[in-house]
Amino acid sequence: MKLASVVGARPQFVKVAPILRAISAQDVAGTEMVEHLLVHTGQHYDYEMSRVFFGDMNLPRPQYNLGVGSGTHGVQTAAMLERIERVLRSEPPDLVLVYGDTNSTLAGALAAAKLHVPVGHVEAGLRSYRKDMAEEINRVLSDHLSTLLFCPTARAVQNLVREGIGGALNEGKLISPGYRGFSAKATCDSPWVVNVGDVMKDALVESAMDATGIPKAVDGAGLANGEYAVATVHRAENTDDRDRLKAILRALERISIDFFPVVFPLHPRTRKAMERHRLSVSPRALYLIDPIAHSEMLRLLRNAQLVLTDSGGVQKEAFLLGVPCVTLRNETEWVELVDSGWNRLADADEERICDAAATLRTECDSRDRPVLYGDGHAAERIVDMILAFCSAGG
Ligand code: UD1
Repeated sequence: MKLASVVGARPQFVKVAPILRAISAQDVAGTEMVEHLLVHTGQHYDYEMSRVFFGDMNLPRPQYNLGVGSGTHGVQTAAMLERIERVLRSEPPDLVLVYGDTNSTLAGALAAAKLHVPVGHVEAGLRSYRKDMAEEINRVLSDHLSTLLFCPTARAVQNLVREGIGGALNEGKLISPGYRGFSAKATCDSPWVVNVGDVMKDALVESAMDATGIPKAVDGAGLANGEYAVATVHRAENTDDRDRLKAILRALERISIDFFPVVFPLHPRTRKAMERHRLSVSPRALYLIDPIAHSEMLRLLRNAQLVLTDSGGVQKEAFLLGVPCVTLRNETEWVELVDSGWNRLADADEERICDAAATLRTECDSRDRPVLYGDGHAAERIVDMILAFCSAGG
């Protein structure tokens, strides 16, 4: 069978890596069970945002790099749609896999669905219930176009069932490996909605073993290992609004001075926004660095006292590595993190961010950390379900 993965943005390079490993593990005695086509839309194109991840995660060179680059949402998504369609027409796959919630996810799902190629959505069912966020629009539409919905949590399954997308396999509980409890063939109108666990946990389990030692950024800044916080900011709602970005930067400066020095890998969007809004930070307070490879990011997170972020993936990685997280938004699609007490929503509110930084670390020292997001074998389940779908004539 032939499977195509559409990726384009940094977190998707992380998510496709365990899937590729699970595909290779299926190959028996040199026979390729699944032919895999890697399609990179080119949404992220800087060396630090793209190529470094391919090397870091041992990803193969994409068969197609569509080179769409930056643009408004309409321009970027339209260019992807046109170019993905061309690829899918010239090399029709049996299934297209899309990942997460970026413009590349939506373009991949839409191009495939219109060509009647079934879509599998990895990280299906997440909701922040805020359609003023591009990511929420991308998730909802991609889910509604999919035939196989691979959810990372039981809550994500419930969200989809509530939207009438389909019935939950195995009552929304994590399926056991080799699960075959489906009676009907999946179609876009009658999809399989299944809790497989989270591929980011797979990626973390696989990489965390190597993520030991002192992070380069910490060494370079002359900081004490384990005595710092890590911040990331890139969401449009935080970078496009000068007041919000200013409040976040001021809070990070205060935290850096009052509690722990803050290491801040700067996303290109944020760097440009700071220039545009004429916002600067004191280099003595914040340690601004360029974006870093995933293995280096895990090393940095694992040794941190605290994480402050508006990223979905970083919230989860912090939790899985046992680091409390202040989320720089007023909602999160990863609601179980907030329920666990390890994640606190502080919006872009300077006082709330500083209050959370002052108390959360100590509170979490005596707090249990529940097991969330599966068992680190989500990708194997996904590949197994895809093979079952194809052998059922999908
Ligand atoms: C995208 C995703 C977001 C994901 C994030 C991870 C959408 C709507 N958003 O946001 O869900 O969490 O990726 O990073 O798809 N830029 C560069 N170099 C690059 C890439 C981007 O300079 O390599 C600049 C672009 O010119 C643009 C800005 O960064 O001005 C934003 O890039 P874009 O791909 O639109 O969205 P992200 O903020 O990266």
